[in-house]
Amino acid sequence: MDTQKIQQLIEDYPLLRQIVATQEVIWENYRTQQAHDETFTVTDMLEAQARLARFAPYLQTVFPALREHNGIIESPLRAVPQLQSTIEGFAGQLYIKCDHELPISGSIKARGGIYEVLKFAETIALEQQLLSIEDTYDILALPQCKEVFQRYKIAVGSTGNLGLSIGLMGATLGFQVTVHMSADAKQWKKDLLRSRGVEVIEYAADYSVAVEHGRQEAAQDPYCHFVDDENSRDLFAGYSVAALRVAQQLKDAAIEVSAEQPLHIYIPCGVGGGPGGVAFGLHELFGEHVHVYFAEPTHAPCMTIGMITKLYDAVSVQDFGIDGITEADGLAVGRASGFVGQMMESRIAGCYTVEDNFLFESMKQVLETEQMFLEPSAHAAVKGAYLFRERPGTHIIWATGGSMVPAEQRALYAQKM
Ligand SMILES: Cc1ncc(COP(=O)(O)O)c(C=O)c1O
Repeated sequence: MDTQKIQQLIEDYPLLRQIVATQEVIWENYRTQQAHDETFTVTDMLEAQARLARFAPYLQTVFPALREHNGIIESPLRAVPQLQSTIEGFAGQLYIKCDHELPISGSIKARGGIYEVLKFAETIALEQQLLSIEDTYDILALPQCKEVFQRYKIAVGSTGNLGLSIGLMGATLGFQVTVHMSADAKQWKKDLLRSRGVEVIEYAADYSVAVEHGRQEAAQDPYCHFVDDENSRDLFAGYSVAALRVAQQLKDAAIEVSAEQPLHIYIPCGVGGGPGGVAFGLHELFGEHVHVYFAEPTHAPCMTIGMITKLYDAVSVQDFGIDGITEADGLAVGRASGFVGQMMESRIAGCYTVEDNFLFESMKQVLETEQMFLEPSAHAAVKGAYLFRERPGTHIIWATGGSMVPAEQRALYAQKM
């Protein structure tokens, strides 16, 4: 985008001045009364829930740790009173949604990534008559099914956690998986994938370059399925199921959601699929009683800029001279998803940005108070509890990743706390 257009945008939307200066900002969405973009519907969300239920017998066969959860990949919702007590003037009740503990790949990307791989496997299995939809899906763990899947490939571009989810699930089913990793991806994620037989291609460039290479590779091969983090409805569907699960968890804990007891959700945003799917689902279930804020690093505020300008994926942070470099590796994305941006137009309460310093201060605080280790990206969500402390109701910090971070990497983070 040319500099004149950028200058015009900055004049039209004054908050962009602070964003360009990489200052922390809050953008409150004033378009919540507009008509909703209905390209993805509640029927799609329920279809995803049903598909995951069909795969539950398979998942508990190949991942024995899932047996106690009947093959359902879910994370706990925990009250965090110690952390809450350190936030002066906090008016509500504070919880953490522990997606950092999600089984198999330890991040929110497990929800969408695993779902999309399972859907691809189901499509092949039905086409090849390996099973019918009424069968018990654990037969997909049989060697003859794996042999069929071995003929197919999956490619994905990632900052790390999506690659981990696709790679670990894809390799378990038998697919040949290639993960195109951006420069931000952590070494331990690449090592883990390689140890499971996944091909990892590394790029010195950022996430969009890695995605583009994945897309090109897949386009040349009819047997290759490309997981498109920027546009995939399947990923979005997988993420959205989280809302149904969290609604049940709130019910089980007798937590009311109403005008008097609204729900405040703080969720880190990279390209937007993960937070977008969750926000979509929660908005369907709780309507005006849920307020979802997307959290981004001050150096990679792609969704915030896309939402303010309504240009979504037609602008990048680099267009505004912002470098996209942040310790929140999962959020190091320069251009948001256009599909998600438009879906969120009338559904989110707003966006805010966070300096990297806060991420490490928060890491120390959450470790000391709640003995929970979350990766830097996830701490962008914690900021919301400080920003909106005076609002009554239930506040949920969506902890998007961290339980699989190895000790050596944790020690490196500890030096920055
Ligand atoms: C830990 C973590 N949090 C949040 C996100 C953001 O998800 P999305 O890129 O779908 O917005 C990511 C993405 O990789 C992540 O790894």
